[in-house]
Amino acid sequence: MSLYDLAGRDLIAETDWTKEEYDSAIRLTDHLKGLYYSGEPHPYLAYKTFAMMFFAGSTRTRMSFETAMTQLGGHAQFISPKTLRLSLEDTPGAGETVKDTVKAMSRFCDGIGIRLLDDAIDYYGHGDLVMRKFAEFGDVPVINMASDINHPCQSLTDIYTIREKLGEPKGSKIVISWAYSPWVRGPCSIHGTALISAMYGMDLVLAHPPEYDLDPAVMDTCRRLADRSGGSVEVANDMDQALEGAQVVFPRNWCTSRRYEHGKEKELELAEKYTDWRYTKKRQQELCSPGHLLQCMPVDRGHEADIEVCDNELSWMYDQAENRLHTQKAILVLAMGGRL
Ligand code: CP
Repeated sequence: MSLYDLAGRDLIAETDWTKEEYDSAIRLTDHLKGLYYSGEPHPYLAYKTFAMMFFAGSTRTRMSFETAMTQLGGHAQFISPKTLRLSLEDTPGAGETVKDTVKAMSRFCDGIGIRLLDDAIDYYGHGDLVMRKFAEFGDVPVINMASDINHPCQSLTDIYTIREKLGEPKGSKIVISWAYSPWVRGPCSIHGTALISAMYGMDLVLAHPPEYDLDPAVMDTCRRLADRSGGSVEVANDMDQALEGAQVVFPRNWCTSRRYEHGKEKELELAEKYTDWRYTKKRQQELCSPGHLLQCMPVDRGHEADIEVCDNELSWMYDQAENRLHTQKAILVLAMGGRL
């Protein structure tokens, strides 16, 4: 495939791009990271603008995309939807429609990033639906900067980091484990890491208490991707058993499928039953092999993972955070038709 084949393409779910297309993005990331570290200018998106709509908070995603556009010679425009007249309801009198908003935005920018999840949505699937509406009516590529279902920029970063640290990811065991935290978190990064691990042939174990089953559609897709890649997918309800021999561990809290029905208080009550689901130093030392910490951050230190596990030599999380910059530069160049 040519590097120009992805020009104009949206990236909303991990499966919107094929493995071959991610392979191209990974090769381009290597190139861009090399230029960055050798101090070579690489203004592949000179004079282009990326509009970023954040319906929910962010540290890494906002900063890495803004810095990415600066380093590529373009501009990132931060838009708080509260400062617009936009309404997601699409009924007369509610506010400006998604269609009119994105049609107008498309006249000013070359790509649009959207983050829409957690308290900014009314039900599971709502964020994805709205993002797809932006993509349907927009005339420039839409990049998902985290929705209720997917987080493809994080997912590419995760597989890039695994590959950078371990080499070929195929055949390595990764455990994505539910972990206790009073933060009630959406599952987008769990889905994303699971999907990309399956796509790259890893032996994936999803460990969680019985109430925390993941979206069956995402699980089906993981199994289909693993069949194709030679990987495997297992589900376990025992954290210790799941961690046996894990090379990579992603401990993270996620909410149940009933979060929008029964509310956050009930989620917290349920999570309190499982406070022993933590990635501890003891578990890392006694069960894993060696159990590198993959954590997209923000991490709930002392809950999701022991503070020592966050800080010891097996932790990849700051390198992983940095790689958001390099992988997103590749995504932006590919989707926005950069001059390579
Ligand atoms: N991992 C991630 O998306 O971080 P932020 O929420 O800080 O953007």
